[in-house]
Amino acid sequence: MKKRSHTCLLATTMASIVLLMMVLYGTINSQQPESSHFKHDYQLLGRPLFKLDTSWPKYPELFGGDVFAVAVNHHGEVVYVAQRGDTVPKILVFTTSGDFLMSWNTSTLEMPHGMFLADPTSSNPTLWITDVGNGPYGHCIKQYSPSGNLLQVLGTPGTAGTRLNPLQFDQPAEVFVHGSGEMYIVDGDGGANNRLIKLSKDLQVLWVHGEQGAGLAQLYIPHSVTVDDYQRVWVADRGNKRIQVFDAATGDWLASWGSCFTEDAPYSVRLTPDRKHLVVTQLNANQVSLLEAPPVGVVGQCRVVGVIRLPDDVKPHLVDVDQGTGALYVAEIGAGQAQKYVPFHQGGGPFY
Ligand SMILES: *[C@@H]1O[C@H](CO)[C@@H](O)[C@H](O)[C@H]1NC(C)=O
Repeated sequence: MKKRSHTCLLATTMASIVLLMMVLYGTINSQQPESSHFKHDYQLLGRPLFKLDTSWPKYPELFGGDVFAVAVNHHGEVVYVAQRGDTVPKILVFTTSGDFLMSWNTSTLEMPHGMFLADPTSSNPTLWITDVGNGPYGHCIKQYSPSGNLLQVLGTPGTAGTRLNPLQFDQPAEVFVHGSGEMYIVDGDGGANNRLIKLSKDLQVLWVHGEQGAGLAQLYIPHSVTVDDYQRVWVADRGNKRIQVFDAATGDWLASWGSCFTEDAPYSVRLTPDRKHLVVTQLNANQVSLLEAPPVGVVGQCRVVGVIRLPDDVKPHLVDVDQGTGALYVAEIGAGQAQKYVPFHQGGGPFY
């Protein structure tokens, strides 16, 4: 039996008010042309942990391509958006409050897939971008300065990887660069390689999981990767509809979560700054799920605590989390835009 507490009632009342406000807001804005229904129509299921920030960005018409990835520099309060398309610049740069700063374009980037902002607190933050293109610059991972100068290339540009060379990629999906400089690569997005690679700060291979399959520690379309504070590596093992967890130091397999992903695979995995939740996108189910992040030493079963359900065809792909404010930025391929979701309690008091 559950005790219906005062706080629970309060939360229900607040949720109703917010829902009413959302409905009113949607009605007021329904006269707007174009794809504005993508912006205002969404549902919160379970605990309402986040709400859409409809004021971000201030100039959404700048999105003109297929938006695949986002990366946040919480220290510099800057958001990078990567998009594909022949007539659009590949990278758009906004502030976290929605102002447009700049865009950049380069022939060295064919089909951006995943993005990661490394060293956000240093004076030299850099942007790592994986490229799944088939042209002369594809199949590799590039490091750019924030304004688009190419600094470094990992892999063999234009040549899809072989299983023999861990640093020759085949549609590399995403990278995660730890504060220590160590890098985790998921390779990749449907190519022949299905690998999780850990590199040292000086790019030496420390360990690799490279076996394609559905068994424990095997991978099929490893699509996103993040590392928590307890030396655990979380991998969105998309083709197997599960998240797998590995020991960051040894590469040992720790656990697998499948029960939350029977409907649709996890596409993206990130942690909230309070380390209480994993943020997971599910592209075909059009939702962003908040999962309980388990404490040190225990992985256990996955538990979904809240869901942002988006309209059909929004197709949320990859997400990044502002490690200062906790805001989520979601790259939505179908809607052709990135959106910002802010923690519900901001300015609104506690909700549970
Ligand atoms: C960006 O660069 C690519 C490759 O050079 C080019 O095909 C594309 O037209 C450029 N886009 C814009 C908007 O200039």
